[in-house]
Amino acid sequence: SEVNKYRRLRPSGAPRRRLPDALIIGVKKCGTRALLEFLRLHPDVRAAGSEVHFFDKFYHKGFEWYRQRMPATLEGQLTMEKTPSYWVTRSAPRRVHAMNPAVRLLAVVRDPVTRAVSDYTQSASKRPSLPRFEQLALVNSTHNWGVPWSIVDATWGPVRLGVYARPLRRWLRRFPRRRLLLVSGERLVADPAAEMARVQEFLGLKKVITEKHFYFNSTKGFPCLLKSETSPTPHCLGKTKGRSHPHIDPSAIERLREFYRPYNERFYELSGINFGWP
Ligand code: A3P
Repeated sequence: SEVNKYRRLRPSGAPRRRLPDALIIGVKKCGTRALLEFLRLHPDVRAAGSEVHFFDKFYHKGFEWYRQRMPATLEGQLTMEKTPSYWVTRSAPRRVHAMNPAVRLLAVVRDPVTRAVSDYTQSASKRPSLPRFEQLALVNSTHNWGVPWSIVDATWGPVRLGVYARPLRRWLRRFPRRRLLLVSGERLVADPAAEMARVQEFLGLKKVITEKHFYFNSTKGFPCLLKSETSPTPHCLGKTKGRSHPHIDPSAIERLREFYRPYNERFYELSGINFGWP
């Protein structure tokens, strides 16, 4: 019969596409690709390869469209996706909650000063005529007792995105704190296995990703993978990840540190974690 034919083709337990169980919601340039690629080492995780942008750009297409963008999974496997712009999309917390209030959220965060330089470096790689970082991050202000004075341009995207407290508050209005894991971008580089142990525990996964998966590539200056599902040989993330940054005037760096200090404090309070950024 038709029913039996269908059952033969799709026996129960056959892979099927499902809406995500967990999302990497940000933050841009904090190591979101590394986190996703590391998670994909796990046999119980299946993730969309490219950023889907459902909750910011394509929400009007509906959940069925979104589901079709997901890889097929077996019962018990987690479906994942990462789109860093969700972090700062005002409607995203409400929309994600409407999909599944029990979804697990992951956000990678990193010292906002290096994040800003990383963001700028990415833009400059596409637009070589871009002014220097210092010129964009700082605006000249009225002289202070005859001393030329410059203030941080908080409206410039690379600066603004490093103010983590405001978006965190928005997510925490919809989701309990225990549903959101904040991953340290610094620790993901310095000790990927330790950070991935926390991630696997948060996702309720068996601890499969360990020290054995990583090696430090001193040419790249980052941890790389010994093998993965897609490649049986050692490999690093692509060359757009782990770029070298331009030299930035130390006084501009200091200005930015002062600018971020109160926002970082607020973020530590809200998150309950002191990330210890300088
Ligand atoms: P840089 O290229 O400026 O160093 P995202 O994937 O969110 O865009 O973040 C990119 C950043 O991830 C990189 O910024 C790099 O610092 C960081 N990163 C973390 N772990 C990495 C790894 N194993 N390989 C390469 N980059 C990594």
